[in-house]
Order: sequence, then structure tokens, then C-alpha cells
Amino acid sequence: MNGFDKARAALTDLTGRSAIVTGAGRGQGAVEAEMLARAGAAVWLCDVLVAEGEALAARLRGEGLQAEFLALDVTDAANWATVVAAVTAATGRLDVLVNNAGIINRKLIRDMSPAEWSKVIEVNLTGAFLGIKTAAPVMAETGGGSIVNISSNSAFSGHYDPAYTASKWGLRGLTRSAAMEYAEAGVRVNAVCPGLIVTDLNRGSPHLAPMIGMTPMARSGEAEEVAQLVLFLAAEGSGFITGEDFVIDGGFTAGAAYRRVARETGLL
Ligand SMILES: NC(=O)c1ccc[n+]([C@@H]2O[C@H](COP(=O)([O-])OP(=O)(O)OC[C@H]3O[C@@H](n4cnc5c(N)ncnc54)[C@H](O)[C@@H]3O)[C@@H](O)[C@H]2O)c1
Repeated sequence: MNGFDKARAALTDLTGRSAIVTGAGRGQGAVEAEMLARAGAAVWLCDVLVAEGEALAARLRGEGLQAEFLALDVTDAANWATVVAAVTAATGRLDVLVNNAGIINRKLIRDMSPAEWSKVIEVNLTGAFLGIKTAAPVMAETGGGSIVNISSNSAFSGHYDPAYTASKWGLRGLTRSAAMEYAEAGVRVNAVCPGLIVTDLNRGSPHLAPMIGMTPMARSGEAEEVAQLVLFLAAEGSGFITGEDFVIDGGFTAGAAYRRVARETGLL
């Protein structure tokens, strides 16, 4: 095999691998799950949205891909144990976990109850903690693996959705800590931090137009673009990368605020 063919396989081939994607019933998780299945992995789509997840898994199977749906509430440790056991019983291994499930609550601190705060932290941060805690030891036993945590570019600044923002900052810290803990066991852990992707999480929000207006590339991202990054981090081509954040936001985090100043003062 020449160098390019090796690179193509290392970047895109997951044949013989098994993967779990949480929040895969719709939105970015659905696209990520399909991307991994098309790369050759046996993929378990997990979500609290049972009908949506089952329908997507059935559609992928209809195309000859390996896809199964399993109900999973990421906040439930026992549910995680059942899911990981089911995957390893079927394939004898677990290679990839995408902690994608997430919720948002745009209330400001002054309007948010402690229960509302805890709910967001529980799904977005504790859910990923439980996933790593359950999956990483199994990955370590079966030759190593890759965990991708879907954080957000809001994990680089303050924001108008404080619980969500705190959970996504927390996910970056969890990513680095888990990467240190499991590095020698051969389990890599990285974070993907998307900017605006239009999904059911934000469709119809008044924030969309101003966000796009502030984005240097002047558009929202596509779920496929995020899924390509997830595939890269899942596959062997990223084999020496762990504990990193990957921002994918059309330049927003890189300097949207200064770009706006430059535009308002006629420099750009
Ligand atoms: N859309 C964006 O602009 C954007 C930007 C940055 C990061 N993200 C992150 O991307 C991820 C995917 O979001 P999306 O945009 O596809 O939104 P989405 O609402 O379409 O998808 C989220 C999925 O998570 C599932 N989910 C929620 N709670 C769950 C639980 N307790 N257990 C299992 N599954 C659960 C939902 O059922 C849904 O299928 C989230 O973590 C989100 O925070 C989204």
C-alpha cells in the first residue's frame, strides 16, 4: 500500500470496529452515527428518543450498514452498563464512544432554578462522565479506543446560557483529565467544539441570525462537517492525538469580536 492509500485507510476506515454514539436519534448524533457506519464500523445508536433512533438504525441496516438502536438515558449508570455489555457481547470489543447527547436551557442565572441547573449538568457533563467510566475500561481491555466528547465553542467564553456553557467548559476539563488517566491504557479522549449548527436544539431561535452575522465565515456549520471531524478523531489517523479541543466554528472563537470591531471601524 502506498503512503496515500495508507493515509486514506487510516483517516476513514473503521472496518471491524464497534462504536456507540449517544443522542443519535436525531441532529448531529444521527449524522455522526451514519458517518461511522459508512466508514465500516458496527454502530450502536443510543438515545432517549426510541422511535427516531430505531427508524434511523433500520434505514442504515436497509443500506447494508451495521447499525442497532439501544435505549439509553446517559444520566443512568445502570443503563450505561447494560448498553456497553450488549455491545461487547455482540462484537467482543468497543473501539469508539461519541458522547454527543446534550440539552440546552437558555435561562439566565437569575431565572434558573437549582433543579434546572442540575438537569443540564447531569445530561451534558455527568452523562459523559458515566460514559467514559463505563466504556474506557472495556476499551482498554480490548486493545484501546477513542472517545470523542461533543462540547461547544461556548466552552471558550461566557455566554447567555450559563448552565449549558458551564457544562461544556466542564466537558473540556473532563476530556483532558480522562485523556491523562487512560493514555497508557491506549484510550484517547478528545473534545469537538462546534459553533452554530442548525438542529432541533436551536431551530427557530432568534439567536441564529445574529450568530451567523458574527461568524467570520458568515454561515452556520453543517452536521456533516462535525461528523467528519468525529470520524477523524475516531479513526487511527489521529492515533497520536489525545486530550485536545477541536473548535469547528467558521472562525467565531478565533476572533469574531475583534473582527466586528475592525468592521465597525472600517478596517475590514
Ligand atoms: N446545534 C448546535 O449549534 C451545537 C453547537 C455546539 C454543540 N452542540 C452539541 O452537539 C450535541 C448534539 O446536539 P444537536 O445540535 O444535534 O441537538 P439535538 O437536540 O438535535 O440532539 C441532541 C440529542 O441528545 C438526545 N438526548 C438528550 N438528553 C438525553 C439523555 N438524557 N440521554 C440520551 N440522549 C439524550 C436528544 O434526544 C437528541 O437526540 C449536543 O451535545 C449539543 O450540546 C450543538
